[in-house]
Amino acid sequence: MTIDAIAQSLRAAGHTVHLVEANPDLPHWFLRHSVDLVFNIAEGNDGEHRESQVPAVLEALNIPFTGSNSVTLALALDKTKTKQILAAEDIPTPAWQLFAIAQAPLNPSLGFPLIVKPNREGSSIGIWRESVVGDEASLRRQIAIVADRYQQEVLVEEFIEGIELTVGVIDNEVLPPIEIDFSTCRQGGEFFYSWRMKEFQGNQALGLAPQLFCPARIEGRVMARVKEVALRAHRALGCRDFSRTDIRLRADGVPFVLEVNPLPGLSPLDSNFPIATQAAGFSHDKLIQRIVELAMARYRSGADVCRSSERSITCSQEPSASTEFADSYSSLRISG
Ligand SMILES: Nc1ncnc2c1ncn2[C@@H]1O[C@H](COP(=O)(O)OP(=O)(O)O)[C@@H](O)[C@H]1O
Ligand SMILES: [Mg+2]
Repeated sequence: MTIDAIAQSLRAAGHTVHLVEANPDLPHWFLRHSVDLVFNIAEGNDGEHRESQVPAVLEALNIPFTGSNSVTLALALDKTKTKQILAAEDIPTPAWQLFAIAQAPLNPSLGFPLIVKPNREGSSIGIWRESVVGDEASLRRQIAIVADRYQQEVLVEEFIEGIELTVGVIDNEVLPPIEIDFSTCRQGGEFFYSWRMKEFQGNQALGLAPQLFCPARIEGRVMARVKEVALRAHRALGCRDFSRTDIRLRADGVPFVLEVNPLPGLSPLDSNFPIATQAAGFSHDKLIQRIVELAMARYRSGADVCRSSERSITCSQEPSASTEFADSYSSLRISG
């Protein structure tokens, strides 16, 4: 549905759209066809750095594409690497320990409750309500389950009590933060964005219907801090065009960054990023067209490496291809 909606928005702007499956045949397709720009929405097939695979192929073939590059996408998929960068930039992130070996001793400076997560998944895969643990026996049990099931390192973090926020950035502009309030879900036993919560979000019978507020109900000074942290996280990871950063806001007003999503979901029905862009006043069509324009502006300005070959961009679709497109173009701030 996400792909159909994106294709429809691109066609509405006058573009010719080809859908290319992100499978091992993808490089062959691009060797046989010439395109102006790729709208990348591929999460990749498999492997540690799967989200970076399609961008890496496009970089190798010198084909312009939307969104972040292969380095950022690989880094962001590794939660611990992301946290190391955030910490180096003095961006608050929960205290943590990475368990490469399940039996490694627990760092005594970490305070319970802790949360146990696979280091390289997304969509809350491997995160259930049992993932929040209050003692070492439950911690060990949970680490063993995650290590066994996902065959990867296990990230253990201090669990930040507080407000759940997710904050979009587009073109270095921070969108109105979204607050996800789980208080209506407590009777179902869920109290944060677990796998069940995301999978069945909106199901009242299961008690999995959190309330979303955009903009978040937080006061001005804290709001400014949250926005600043989201923008700094976006830049620290080298995100391009757009991103969505997940944050837990502690009661004392410190926004802790959990992770940065350089390829956030763009479903017009149930993704959080489009909720924020809608609150900022632009439609799904405009969001998609703006992402295209940002990418094209990057390549045109020479801010990207696509210069050397004949493949360098031939923008057959000028922004004036439709009124809608021209509108979105006129609202852009193009730097560089
Ligand atoms: N340290 C933490 N403190 C509080 N809640 C957390 C913490 N880490 C994860 N969570 C909860 O789990 C959800 C998913 O974690 P996240 O790190 O964003 O992984 P994913 O990539 O699967 O979205 C968060 O949105 C939040 O509700
Ligand atoms: Mg997340």
